[in-house]
Amino acid sequence: MSQPVVLLATPVPEDLAARLRAHFTVVEIPPGESVAAALDDAQRSRINGVLTSLRTRFDASAMDALPNLRVISNFAVGFDNVDIDAASDRGILVCNTPRVLDAAVADLTFGMLIMLGRNMLNCDAYVRDGSWASKGPFPLTRDIRGKTLGLLGMGRIGRMVARAAKAFDMKVIYHNRSRSDEAEGLAEYVERDRLFSESDFVSVHVPLTAETRECVGEREFGLMKSTAYLINTARGAVIDEAALVRALESATIAGAGLDVMVTEPLPADHPLCRLPNVVLQAHVGSATVETRRAMIDLATRNLIDALTGTEPEAMVNPQVWTDSVNAAV
Ligand code: 8YV
Repeated sequence: MSQPVVLLATPVPEDLAARLRAHFTVVEIPPGESVAAALDDAQRSRINGVLTSLRTRFDASAMDALPNLRVISNFAVGFDNVDIDAASDRGILVCNTPRVLDAAVADLTFGMLIMLGRNMLNCDAYVRDGSWASKGPFPLTRDIRGKTLGLLGMGRIGRMVARAAKAFDMKVIYHNRSRSDEAEGLAEYVERDRLFSESDFVSVHVPLTAETRECVGEREFGLMKSTAYLINTARGAVIDEAALVRALESATIAGAGLDVMVTEPLPADHPLCRLPNVVLQAHVGSATVETRRAMIDLATRNLIDALTGTEPEAMVNPQVWTDSVNAAV
């Protein structure tokens, strides 16, 4: 029998590429390029597995263009680039990279929290432009200690942020679809509106789904304290971005820390770039050498395992795996 064929839609370190070549025939396309544009019908029909970043979308028609596709291994914990129902309907297993990036994303979240709370970005500018020398001391900021952090979403990353907040003696509250046993001792469950009205910092840790799209908008900003900050390291589209810009411009809320935006890369002429009360990051929550290596290791392992009959470590639609195992016996 001929070797399975895998498509690399994201670059892979040479040692992992060699591991893939030991098992499979490997085809590569430039990151972000659509599979349909990069490969002809005959090439596409040979593909059995894909390793991809968020930049390549797999909707129903992209999957239909790959009639022998069995596995999509996403180099990300999020999987909003893949239509999971369409994948499950077609018996395509989807894998992702949970756990290994929790700490890096939580660190960035907390970094932005401190930058906002202590007004570090504006203080940096104050030193650089000579204002310190000409105008005197920088205006006082507020303590982080004793403040309330509200977590919207209490999965693994939310819990990691809660742990960091404990070290800063913050009060941590959360709202989630359901109460989390694992949040016990870390954070108090509150109703959704209370989360927005009581928090000094609201940090978003929900995946992007049809239910969460623009789930934080004008109503929620209206509930927040005018001294409160919004932090988003999840997905830009979870926030109604136009409403956020209005809330920031009108001082309805004090500021925002955003690692993710609706349009990435964020155009330099975007209104968010003009606002002094916003800390902007370039979707770098997981972007450390160690974490990205752990993510690509796991994504590669998931792909190899799935195509060689070993249950992968991280599956988004595990029923597809169970069904394929049952069908084989
Ligand atoms: C991306 C992310 O994985 O994991 C996620 O869901 O958003 C990021 O960590 C990263 O951009 C690599 O594709």
